[in-house]
Amino acid sequence: MQRRPLGRSGLSTAPLIFGGNVFGWTADEATSHRLLDAFVDGGFNAVDTADVYSAWVPGHQGGESESVIGRWLKARGWRDDVLILTKVAMWPKQPGLSAGNIEAAVEGSLTRLQTDHIDLYQSHQDDAATPIDETLEAFGRLVKAGKVRAIGASNFTPARLSDSLAVSAAKGLPRYETIQPKFNLYDRDQVEGELATLTQAEGVGVIPFYGLAAGFLTGKYRTDADLEGRARAPTIKRDYMNDKGVRVLAALDKAAQATGATPAQIALAWIMAHPAVTAPIASATSVAQLQDLMGAARLSLPAEVMADLNAAGRD
Ligand SMILES: NC(=O)c1ccc[n+]([C@@H]2O[C@H](COP(=O)([O-])OP(=O)(O)OC[C@H]3O[C@@H](n4cnc5c(N)ncnc54)[C@H](OP(=O)(O)O)[C@@H]3O)[C@@H](O)[C@H]2O)c1
Repeated sequence: MQRRPLGRSGLSTAPLIFGGNVFGWTADEATSHRLLDAFVDGGFNAVDTADVYSAWVPGHQGGESESVIGRWLKARGWRDDVLILTKVAMWPKQPGLSAGNIEAAVEGSLTRLQTDHIDLYQSHQDDAATPIDETLEAFGRLVKAGKVRAIGASNFTPARLSDSLAVSAAKGLPRYETIQPKFNLYDRDQVEGELATLTQAEGVGVIPFYGLAAGFLTGKYRTDADLEGRARAPTIKRDYMNDKGVRVLAALDKAAQATGATPAQIALAWIMAHPAVTAPIASATSVAQLQDLMGAARLSLPAEVMADLNAAGRD
């Protein structure tokens, strides 16, 4: 399968990255391992997680997702065939991007992941209280020690990403090779505009999360009744059950009729075709869902379908 470069890191990913927040949350461990097997069997290679996943679930501490991945890596012995992307800064137990926190957090992630290196270690969110130099110097030490191959950022404003790139260049430190923003057919503003201009000029990879808007873009949530008892219900109801959501789903339905593909495949293929994007991150909770999503990588959307979708998701 065709690979896309993660910035200038030398690492590259298949056109879809698996979102690991579901491991140990909405996908139990056995299902998670089956999902990871199916993903690798399908020719894909990159898995995204974070130390904090899934601390928001009652009874969870955080670290559950990394631990599930770690046991899978150990059982399969596939470490060199996959890229492990994880993050630091958002775990209430280990918050922020201070040097001390990064140094402690990386050891926890390596232990849970049962590996000696992280392929892409990402700042999960900005930390205005820590000088940029301190954070990048800490990451630089991890890269030198071989514990981290490359670094990325998530949820940074274009201005702060730009400042960080400038510090890296001035001080000869590793730079953020990727940015992970929220981006999908519905949520467009974080990428289109300033961030797209900056990342294209600087050769920074864009690996957006929420490719399916938490499942809304699969078309399975259209009424309040569809949300009953669903783990994603509060997010979907708050953010997507509105006039714009109806418009986007109508465009997806039309595109599905025109192409014979599913709404989920179309939603992801639209992101994959976006000039600003390297590869979207999306999750699945069953192998059937995942097979559906992986089909997006083989889908090429006709220009008139792309134009319709572009128009529907505009505010
Ligand atoms: N950097 C950040 O701040 C940040 C924030 C959020 C997420 N992320 C990353 O992005 C990843 C993706 O986000 P996400 O998992 O929240 O949302 P998502 O990928 O937009 O939505 C995926 C969910 O949609 C449902 N789904 C997937 N395929 C389907 C199909 N074919 N048919 C029907 N339903 C389907 C599944 O949920 P159900 O089966 O439960 O319906 C699945 O868990 C995360 O795993 C994480 O790695 C990063």
